[in-house]
Amino acid sequence: MKRMLQPFQFKNGVEVPNRLVLAPMTHYSSEPTGEVSEHELAYYRKRAQNVGLAITACAYVTEDGKGFPNAFGVNDDKFIPGLRQLAESLKAEGAKAILQIFHAGRMSPPELVPNEQPVSASAVAPVREGAVTPRALETSEVEAIIEAFGEATRRAIEAGFDGVEIHGANTYLIQQFFSPHSNRREDRFGGDLHGRLTFPREVIRRVKEAAADAEDFLVGYRFSPEEIEEPGITLDDTDVLLDMILAEGVDYIHASLWNFNTASMRDENVTERSIDRIAKRINGAIPLIGVGQLQRPAQVEDALEVVDLAALGRELIIDPEWLEKVKSDREDEIETELDLNKQAELAVPAPLWNAITTRAGWFPIKDQEVK
Ligand SMILES: Cc1cc2nc3c(=O)[nH]c(=O)nc-3n(C[C@H](O)[C@H](O)[C@H](O)COP(=O)(O)O)c2cc1C
Repeated sequence: MKRMLQPFQFKNGVEVPNRLVLAPMTHYSSEPTGEVSEHELAYYRKRAQNVGLAITACAYVTEDGKGFPNAFGVNDDKFIPGLRQLAESLKAEGAKAILQIFHAGRMSPPELVPNEQPVSASAVAPVREGAVTPRALETSEVEAIIEAFGEATRRAIEAGFDGVEIHGANTYLIQQFFSPHSNRREDRFGGDLHGRLTFPREVIRRVKEAAADAEDFLVGYRFSPEEIEEPGITLDDTDVLLDMILAEGVDYIHASLWNFNTASMRDENVTERSIDRIAKRINGAIPLIGVGQLQRPAQVEDALEVVDLAALGRELIIDPEWLEKVKSDREDEIETELDLNKQAELAVPAPLWNAITTRAGWFPIKDQEVK
């Protein structure tokens, strides 16, 4: 039997029927008011089928944490009924539903946040053209955001989710606090490497506290092992981050890589795959999820030699029947390029479809006549 089809048990006893994960993917398709939308539910129903864990797009925990137009919120109790529908859609075919919780920090588009003023650890703009310089958060505001992660977790539990994933990756606020580029603070949330771990650590603690009484609830943590900024997070820094996460204890760790097999992006002399280094550091203490351009079953099987679970992102947009085809011995029917004639069949909401089809090189697209 293929490894990906074997059940997996987390240390808290929660079991998933297989080792496939729907990667978190933002779809720009919730209501402008932050509510979950019908299009979104149809999109998830289609691709959560069969997988072990289904992770949602990132939901903002505070109003000033919005990162994308038409994102959905978990910052108010009024969102709980919609979140409940979302959890039910994900769980309908047996997957465990995980809500990804986040704050965009300095990556917020100004027009989406109060006073058009993004916030971050320090007033340092991201390295990109036209980027706005964020306002440095006051210490009490940082504490309020930690509290908001706890409140988001409470709402996820009330809405019937099986877990939350703390989004500490992809250059958003949690990573900004860990980064020597974006965090130049002098209070207890800044300083040296250990000081810069304070925010991620306190978020984990607050989320775990909120989840303490929930039965069979998973808390995951997603991180990016490096960043390109100078100064920026290195693989050595990440070793220390992983040690902290292991010491605090979460139910899984999710390494965010654009390509599963990639080596360091900061040091071209390094040949070891980053995922191998991460797996060694974790050494089996906590389940590890890997991701990044895994499209073929053989690639997933190879990945599962190193990680416990494998997440597929774009591939499950391109072919939501992926796992069904593996199960029924129809691997040769798996699509690895997006068919531009199939938007309705694939249940991809229009804003996501437009983003995919206008951003060159983002998704593999089938070379064909578009009707
Ligand atoms: C459309 C799109 C939206 C994404 N949104 C998120 C997100 O909300 N949260 C997150 O952690 N990663 C996000 N990612 C990154 C994916 O989870 C994943 O790590 C990345 O796409 C690489 O995996 P893949 O090659 O299987 O797509 C997004 C990726 C795509 C393509």
